[in-house]
Amino acid sequence: MEGFRVLGGEKIEGQVRLQGAKNAVLPILAAALLPEGETVIRDCPDIRDVYAMGGILKQLGCRCEMRQDEMRIDSAGLKCWEMPEGLSKQIRSSIFLLGPILGKLRRAAVTYPGGCEIGLRPIDLHLKGLRALGVKVQEDGGVIRCDGGEMHAGDVYFDYPSVGATENVMMAAALLPGVTTVHNAAREPEIEDLQRFLNMMGGRVCGAGTQVVRIEGVKKLRAVSYTPIPDRIVGGTLLCAAAVTGGEILLSNIRPADLMPVGDKLTEMGCRISREEAGMLLRAPKRLKAFSCLQTQPHPGFPTDMQAQMLAAACTAEGTSVIVENVFENRLSHVADLCRMGADIRVSSRTAVVSGVEKLHGARVTARDLRGGAALVIAALCAKGETVVENVALIDRGYAKLENTLAGLGAKIERMPL
Ligand code: UD1
Repeated sequence: MEGFRVLGGEKIEGQVRLQGAKNAVLPILAAALLPEGETVIRDCPDIRDVYAMGGILKQLGCRCEMRQDEMRIDSAGLKCWEMPEGLSKQIRSSIFLLGPILGKLRRAAVTYPGGCEIGLRPIDLHLKGLRALGVKVQEDGGVIRCDGGEMHAGDVYFDYPSVGATENVMMAAALLPGVTTVHNAAREPEIEDLQRFLNMMGGRVCGAGTQVVRIEGVKKLRAVSYTPIPDRIVGGTLLCAAAVTGGEILLSNIRPADLMPVGDKLTEMGCRISREEAGMLLRAPKRLKAFSCLQTQPHPGFPTDMQAQMLAAACTAEGTSVIVENVFENRLSHVADLCRMGADIRVSSRTAVVSGVEKLHGARVTARDLRGGAALVIAALCAKGETVVENVALIDRGYAKLENTLAGLGAKIERMPL
């Protein structure tokens, strides 16, 4: 097991260029099963989830290699429709391989997926979407077997706009004759990115970013080179790191609109955010102010993936901040560790009330999920003394060597064996 040792108190200052978004790259890697030829994903982040997904693609028979920041995938050898149990338990995104495997081979099998322990995370909507396309789904002993022998285009209605389920249906339908429509689709920027990728390959998808996505199946897709959108969550995390340390950061390669909900809250906390030619600049005040209420919502609401980091920022802000986690039912596990560092937080059900303290202090804490782990690092950056964050393998799932990025911005942080 590895940890981060952080000596708090240094300002986060400097410039960072964002890489491709984890949540855009993972479905795009899955969609790379669909075309013929070699797909190249540029700006691919060097993170564990990407390697895990690459590992699954290889076991399915694809050629898949990462060189510097380019991932190359050739699905010509795809013949296996059963997803390897070990790897697919590691990442939840393995579930949306069902769509493209079915699209290509008309049958698929997967064990219940893994990923962060942040709630029940059922897959009923994924299966509902596939059933609406004529897939026969059987669950036996933790394995989900899908028979797509009679697959057809269709109308899908989601009673909740699930990101992964929307993407799954888009990929399953891309090669199906006829028009598939997804109603109450998720509207996250990563869904628009998947649409852009599918269309660049010759697909006919429209409506991503709205509640209705329409997929007209095509006969064939051809492989392309693609650069995914930058990671708004990594960007938001770094903004928080600068904000809690009274620092100044310039993010380049960003899409400002994607960072609007986070920028809005940080502005409420007293940060000055401006758009420069080179990117987005944040200047933090000496001490942050509390925000009134932050509620996580599906896009374009406040992203649940930034809740933990904002909660960490609120710990030393002046006044009382309220956070309501609406998307996942169990996503406040970082609170206990933040309290060990001196934070004053009360939790009731999905609501956290944070009374800002003047200073946090270092402690030995443990990352319990990806974003919660990043939140502990943010807290450590502004805490007095030394903090050790254990279990950083979870942070590595979504941040490429976070310690190097932060050290490059002035933080005293190092990775260490535990
Ligand atoms: C994606 C993101 C994740 C983010 C989440 C919400 C990827 C790889 N991951 O996850 O980082 O936190 O969106 O923005 O893109 N649900 C069901 N049944 C289902 C599917 C989901 O009840 O079949 C529930 C989930 O338990 C959760 C909510 O819907 O409470 C949102 O989940 P969903 O939008 O599907 O998130 P993911 O696609 O798993």
